[in-house]
Amino acid sequence: MCDSCKKFYITTPIYYPSDKLHIGHTYCTVATDAMARYKRLRGYDVLFLTGTDEHGQKIETRAKEAGITPQQFVDNIVTGEKGVLDLWKLMNISYDRFIRTTDDYHVAAIQKIFKKMYEKGDIYKGKYEGMYCTPCESFWTQSQLKDGKCPDCGRDCQPAEEEAYFFRLSKYAQPVRDLLTNTDFLEPRSRVNEMVNNFIDAGLEDLCVSRTSFTWGVPVDFDPGHVVYVWVDALFNYTTALGFLNDKYEDYAKYWPADVHFVGKEIVRFHSIIWPAMLMSMEMPLPKKVYGHGWLLLDGGKMSKSKGNVVDPQVLADRYGVDALRFFLLRSFPFGSDGNFSNELLISCINTDLANDIGNLVSRTVAMVQKYFGGTLPAEQNYDAEKDDELVKLASGLWERYEKQMEAYAFQNALAEIFAVISRANKYIDENAPWILAKDEANKPRLAKVMYHLLETIRICAGLLQPFMPATSEEILRRIGAEDGSWEALCSFGGLKAEATVTAGPALFPRIDAQKELEELEALNAKPQEPETPAEDPLPEPLPPICFDDFCKVEMTVVKVLECENVKKSDKLLKFTLNDGTDTPRQILSGIAKYYKPEELIGKTLVAVTNLPPRKMMGRESCGMILSAERGDKLQVVMLDDSIPAGARLV
Ligand code: MSP
Repeated sequence: MCDSCKKFYITTPIYYPSDKLHIGHTYCTVATDAMARYKRLRGYDVLFLTGTDEHGQKIETRAKEAGITPQQFVDNIVTGEKGVLDLWKLMNISYDRFIRTTDDYHVAAIQKIFKKMYEKGDIYKGKYEGMYCTPCESFWTQSQLKDGKCPDCGRDCQPAEEEAYFFRLSKYAQPVRDLLTNTDFLEPRSRVNEMVNNFIDAGLEDLCVSRTSFTWGVPVDFDPGHVVYVWVDALFNYTTALGFLNDKYEDYAKYWPADVHFVGKEIVRFHSIIWPAMLMSMEMPLPKKVYGHGWLLLDGGKMSKSKGNVVDPQVLADRYGVDALRFFLLRSFPFGSDGNFSNELLISCINTDLANDIGNLVSRTVAMVQKYFGGTLPAEQNYDAEKDDELVKLASGLWERYEKQMEAYAFQNALAEIFAVISRANKYIDENAPWILAKDEANKPRLAKVMYHLLETIRICAGLLQPFMPATSEEILRRIGAEDGSWEALCSFGGLKAEATVTAGPALFPRIDAQKELEELEALNAKPQEPETPAEDPLPEPLPPICFDDFCKVEMTVVKVLECENVKKSDKLLKFTLNDGTDTPRQILSGIAKYYKPEELIGKTLVAVTNLPPRKMMGRESCGMILSAERGDKLQVVMLDDSIPAGARLV
């Protein structure tokens, strides 16, 4: 396969940071992560994009209510403690790029895009009269309302009238209709009828794409007072994050068009009608696919905290482990349809699939290899076709069945294939009764083969589980002594050497007492999950006074971050390449990886102590120290705005 065919660009919707994320939001990002990891396993050069959609009236209103600026408001939810970035780190989301629509490069690119469509005549000025749903940031005509309410969320809409710009969506009705009906652009197929019947054939009107009644948005640079409609701003993130009409990134030619946009069902309309129409207007290639997944529901309705279930992903991950939660989301619900979430279902999934099936298989097998062979199998092993063929055939062909489901985004089915093999392996233990074989020394070669087949089956299953439970898969592979988790290794039975060595470990997924746990969750739900005012850490001891001359000896310099990356094998250190105003870039290592992702700091203006002697950290030289403020478990680097040049001194 050629290099360019091996690229895979996948996106999640960028989240609207008006509230804390719940388990429903987490669903799509976990699914995208599983797909990105699967494609990496297959050798693709993957770009996985996620981010936040930070403009719009709702954010402006929420910020006003909180008495802070909209930027402060979104910063709190995105980069603040237990914010979006923290959640993705916790959930082990392997995104390659994170876009915030308030990033300067994106804002400038959106202005250029808007102007291009205007100059082409696809955006024109008119007067908007209609209904507006503030929570959804959606305009509706009277005929589109459902019982007088927003057809997406069922809430009241407000009449709105103002001078506005419109996008000629009607001009693209036919080509978009052709795209939906004649190609596989939109999946699952059931969503195509909904789009065509309810929206296109019902008459596609031009879309209002600017607002004047609030200011928190991308300003239309050629007409002050107008801000770009948040959905235009948001949808183009998929291209600006690659460097389209900006210099921040340079991957547009390589990765665009996207291979797939994963989106929730209520935003399929934006992605399958408005998005291709705007791309056609811009004469840009269309994404290859939009996949509209279903919703996680609570008692058949929308997810909200007040309905008796714990839906905070941070709380659930803390209680059951990140991998168990990731697994549950993709194992329990078909990706293309809605599913009913409940804490009971989550606990039962952990107890059945994870504790009973895979957890048990691994711990029993490892324990038997230790008990009967001291931890290492002998080379002499006897195959018994009648007893072994079925399991060996099932495990050998697993990759093919799994691949078919993964390529169709059918995560639930892919996992069902793996768990069918795990069940078969558990049955194989009972059929071969190793405890009876072990009684007679003459049976040792046969017993060794039974153990080997179990280890091989575990190896293949754990390897194929990597996209779903990355940390657990790695641990299982380690315990059974499998060094190679590559796709090629998972496509053949017999990869483990005959004299395999195992290592024991604690239960991978301890069984949960469902009754007791549900009672605890209920109690947790009854009381606020976080104290109103968290107890502060005590202040540090005051230091002895110093004289002014001593203070003056510390050279504190304004530096700009040119590059920043994690230091291999260290979960603490970030390696910075800095412009300190001189011609030579300065390298500093700083132990703040727990608090920042490298990409959050690139381009930022920081302060460094630059007259400390160089020292080595993890074999690399560090020439100085980045200033940060720390109290308790909070840390922030000292950041200045961009107007101060590199090399300026702190006085
Ligand atoms: N900002 C827009 C997306 C712009 S993409 C160019 C947005 N944001 S959102 O935060 O409201 O929703 C983000 C995603 O979470 C959507 O795909 C939405 O469908 C998904 N979900 C929100 N609640 C959900 C469930 N209960 N279940 C599954 N997904 C759900 O829309």
